[in-house]
This record gives sequence, structure tokens and C-alpha cells, in this order.
Amino acid sequence: MNKKTSTPKIIIAIDGYSACGKSTLAKDLGKKLGYGYIDTGAMYRAVTLYFLRNKVAFDDAEAIAKALSDITIEFVNVKGKNRTILNGEDVEEEIRKMYVSNQVSPVATISAVRRSMVLQQQKMGEKKGVILDGRDIGTVVFPTAELKLFLTASPEIRTKRRYEELKIKGQDSTFEEIQTNLLERDHIDSNRADSPLRQAEDAVVIDNSNLSKKEQLAMVSALVKQRIKGLK
Ligand code: CDP
Repeated sequence: MNKKTSTPKIIIAIDGYSACGKSTLAKDLGKKLGYGYIDTGAMYRAVTLYFLRNKVAFDDAEAIAKALSDITIEFVNVKGKNRTILNGEDVEEEIRKMYVSNQVSPVATISAVRRSMVLQQQKMGEKKGVILDGRDIGTVVFPTAELKLFLTASPEIRTKRRYEELKIKGQDSTFEEIQTNLLERDHIDSNRADSPLRQAEDAVVIDNSNLSKKEQLAMVSALVKQRIKGLK
């Protein structure tokens, strides 16, 4: 048998606080390993955008159920970049805007929304060879993932990174606005009743406050190698 095809494929779960570099790591790692990448936060953001556009009240169970059955979320790769597609429309830019960031955590507390997203994520990842980033990947979506990471960084560093990211995209949010949003989301995400953000017991914790992207990638690549070796 060809050695390449016999390499076992694993699931890599990356959880952590807002703007702690999960998606940067997931994208870099995906490229390096030839793995798919599922940005589960983008899915909650797309649902939020749909709810806001269609005036779905966050406490109207019937309207939420109807909306969820009308929503289709896909990921496509355009010129090497991940794009989030909501009912055929590329919403990648729109879902990163502050008005969506300000509503996404309340939407993500709704159990019907979580059930629907988790089922789709499990389906997207069932063939393995994927990296998922989010808040509940290692605890709820794929509790049997072969490698679980929990990323953290200081609130100041996370705010600075998100501020710079948004500035490049031409979105003019202030440092204070961004910091308030990140801390508020962390609070809601960590305290909700349904699948709160928490570290899985078997997750490897990485504080990347003082790590470069390259250092972080090297550290995680070594962990991936180790896990795959353990499976052979
Ligand atoms: O990139 P950033 O850290 O700003 O957030 P994100 O990954 O885009 O996620 C946006 C929001 O979606 C989070 O603050 C959570 O409220 C929610 N989320 C969730 O509840 N569960 C996930 N698996 C992923 C995101």
C-alpha cells in the first residue's frame, strides 16, 4: 500500500476565547496538512445575520424553527480563501461586522440553533481529516477528536489582534468597542446553559500571547505528528 494513503486522518478540535487566534491556526494547519477547515463561529454568525435581516425574534421558537429550516450554510474556497455562503450569498465580510458580533452570542445561547449547527458540523467532519474551530468542539461536537487544543491569550493582545484585523478590512471599530464586544461574548459564551465554552479535560492548553504564528504552528504540528504516530 502507498504510504501516503495509509496515514490515518484525525479530527483536530480548536476551542478558546474570542479572537484568540483559533482561525489563524486552523487555516495554517489546514494548508500544511491538506485538511479541511470548518469555521463553526462563521455558522453562528451567518444564522445571526439571517435572524437580523428577517427580523426573527430571539425568543420566538416557531419563527426560529422555520428560519433554521430555511437556512443553508456552505463553505467554499475562492482563490485559496475560505468564504461563508448563506443561502447562496457570499456573506464572509458581512458576518464579521460589529453589528453581527454584538448579537451572535445571544443567538448562540438558543438550543434549537445549537442543535442544528452541531448536527451539520458533525456531518461535515465525519470523514475526518478536518480541523474545526469554535467553543464546544472538543466537549460537544467531537468529544472523541484525536487532538483537542484550547487557545488563550491576554484580553489586551486579543483586542489588539482583532482591531488590526478589522482595520485592514476597512472596518472602523474603536479599540474600546472591540474589547467590550470580546469580553461580553466571552462572558455569555462561558455562562450559557447549553454547551458553554469550557476547556475539555483532555485538551492541550496553549497561551499564545507571546507566540508568533510560526512558533504556534510548529508547536501544534509536532502534537499532530505525535497523535498520528500513536494511532499507527
Ligand atoms: O473569531 P471570534 O473569536 O471573534 O468568534 P467566532 O469564532 O466567529 O464565534 C462567534 C460567536 O459564535 C462566539 O462568540 C459564540 O457566541 C458563537 N460560537 C459558539 O457558540 N459555538 C461555536 N462552536 C462557535 C462559535
